[in-house]
Amino acid sequence: MSYVVITGASAGIGEGFARALAAEKQNLILVARREERLNSLAAELKQHGIEAIVLKADLADPAGADALARQISDGGWALSGLINNAGFGDRGAFADLGLERQLSMIQVNITSLVSLSWQLLPALRKQPGSFVINVASTAAFQAGPNMAIYYATKAFVLSFSEALHEELKGSGVAVSTLCPGATDSEFAQEAHMTDTKLFKAGTMTVETVVKTSLAQRRKAIVIPGLRNRLMVWSGKLSPRAVTRQLAGWLQA
Ligand SMILES: NC(=O)c1ccc[n+]([C@@H]2O[C@H](COP(=O)([O-])OP(=O)(O)OC[C@H]3O[C@@H](n4cnc5c(N)ncnc54)[C@H](OP(=O)(O)O)[C@@H]3O)[C@@H](O)[C@H]2O)c1
Repeated sequence: MSYVVITGASAGIGEGFARALAAEKQNLILVARREERLNSLAAELKQHGIEAIVLKADLADPAGADALARQISDGGWALSGLINNAGFGDRGAFADLGLERQLSMIQVNITSLVSLSWQLLPALRKQPGSFVINVASTAAFQAGPNMAIYYATKAFVLSFSEALHEELKGSGVAVSTLCPGATDSEFAQEAHMTDTKLFKAGTMTVETVVKTSLAQRRKAIVIPGLRNRLMVWSGKLSPRAVTRQLAGWLQA
């Protein structure tokens, strides 16, 4: 009996992963700060006949990932998957956004993701066919003026996870980087982005993003949606000065 750990399972894409995996009869370890939400989600998902463990963790706390890894190890649960999904962004010029908030973003989006990957890898290696999905973004492919730190964190996640995909080939652990574009979740509200051209141009549903990711969970890079793939491909053919200015314009 093995478990998939999902960080940021209290809302949006993480909650979507939890619902989709529960429907596959997969046992889950649900992680976030909002424990009541996780408890009611766990109660609902148990109707699929699965185990759903709730672990409250603040991954912006420098000690958060360590404490979570210790709880998982103490629980003795075998792991067949890790979805590093918890993350947030914020819109605004680097100099205007608070330093503490931007350092927290690095802690959640990068440092805790790296720490959990490293600490849970030995358990994942013990289960043949296990997987890691690290959630980056289409933001990973270019610089993002007016969201400089968020875009940089996602570029890190993509680069790190791609390298890990190669390193772990043949080890039984598949590493996939999910790069969604604008998706209908609580993210835009939290990031003060609801009125940007990027989000007004339309969003994908959490269900579609999650379904696309899980169907290709052993693929190095997964970009859900034709529009998002076209944006990334055209970005690769364009000078960096163009892509960064376009990104800035989309979220001005
Ligand atoms: N929605 C989009 O347009 C979009 C596009 C590309 C990439 N993404 C990425 O997708 C991932 C999921 O985002 P989402 O769209 O599902 O956003 P969301 O609806 O706001 O959900 C974010 C999740 O992250 C958790 N989280 C945030 N800070 C945390 C912390 N300090 N400790 C533990 N958990 C924390 C939240 O849980 P608590 O608040 O309960 O802790 C929540 O469950 C993020 O990495 C985001 O960057 C989103």
